[in-house]
Amino acid sequence: MRRVEIFDTTLRDGEQSAGVNLHLPEKLEIARALVAYGVDTIEAGFPASSPEDFRSVQAIAREVRGVRVAALARSLPADIDAAYEALREAEEPRIHVFIATSPIHMEYKLRLSPDAVVERAVASVLHAKRYVSDVEWSAEDATRSDWDFLVRIVSAVIAAGATVVNLPDTVGYVQPEEYAAMFRYIMERVPGAERVKFSTHCHDDLGLAVANSLAAVRAGATQVEGTINGIGERAGNAALEEIGVALHVRRDFYGVETGLNLRETVRVSKLVSRLTGFPVPPNKAVVGANAFAHESGIHQDGVLKHAATYEIMSPELVGLSSNRLVLGKHSGRHAFREKLAELGLSVTEAEFEELFRAFKELTGKKKTITDDDILALAFDMAHDG
Ligand code: KIV
Ligand code: ZN
Repeated sequence: MRRVEIFDTTLRDGEQSAGVNLHLPEKLEIARALVAYGVDTIEAGFPASSPEDFRSVQAIAREVRGVRVAALARSLPADIDAAYEALREAEEPRIHVFIATSPIHMEYKLRLSPDAVVERAVASVLHAKRYVSDVEWSAEDATRSDWDFLVRIVSAVIAAGATVVNLPDTVGYVQPEEYAAMFRYIMERVPGAERVKFSTHCHDDLGLAVANSLAAVRAGATQVEGTINGIGERAGNAALEEIGVALHVRRDFYGVETGLNLRETVRVSKLVSRLTGFPVPPNKAVVGANAFAHESGIHQDGVLKHAATYEIMSPELVGLSSNRLVLGKHSGRHAFREKLAELGLSVTEAEFEELFRAFKELTGKKKTITDDDILALAFDMAHDG
């Protein structure tokens, strides 16, 4: 199977979420959890952006082992020097340089001609190569760039020594088939494409970051960038926990493997949520509190007979101990009987019917019925009788 690498940017792009401000001890804790989760690369920060970012990258590079550490730099010598200075002590350092390639960014933001952008991109890779062998190059706003211009600039940065070529959907604009077609177009035309890794980096403005990343993997991308819980600029980045599980559950479809230890999924998600203060919505795929909760009677009955009736993956896969049968107005006798057994309540058939009636009546007043509610009903029944 083709190996797809996971590049985590929770500490760089994720930290760019409005309202998120992580300090060094928290960043180190997240970095260690990411190593346990099995990511290949941690993008630890953007050293030239602030002294605090510099110190965080430096500390992660010095203290975290068993993972490649990357630092971001604009295509400016001073940024690249700062990235290397911060990365010096990393076991496996990578400098990640970027420059925008779309007409709107080149004209209004950079105020550079396309020729000057190619020149600056090549110079940045050559500069980074003086320090490290592993250099990632990103075409910011690739998905709103001209594909033939991308072929030209990607060919030039590979010739200059880039080892990874990242084609970000910076503004979350692209559609899955279009993104896949863009990867194929470029990979087929660029000399030396087989020597480098092609990487996907998606934002979620249209809710397509995960779908777009998966489409790029289908088209041949061998590195996926994203963040835990999908945190990041505006609507966020592609959620790595969703991508990891999708590639595993549908490995029949994707035919790739990652080095992720999926049993760490929920743990790392909860840690990032707690330290960033960003709650995980209950209905979020894979890591939401309801991701393995069944409420309707038909679903509960099915899951009790065979979990695969309504579960495409086991809760244990992502590190949970079991699924959850949530008792509410849609729950049936089967689930209710299981719950009584789980609570250690043994009742006669007549008592069961009486309790079930009381339970149904309570669901008219309360949306979710807790274990304490059921124990209270059983207590009332025993004392009324
Ligand atoms: O979204 C983006 O284009 C980025 C680059 C800096 C890689 O985050
Ligand atoms: Zn980004």
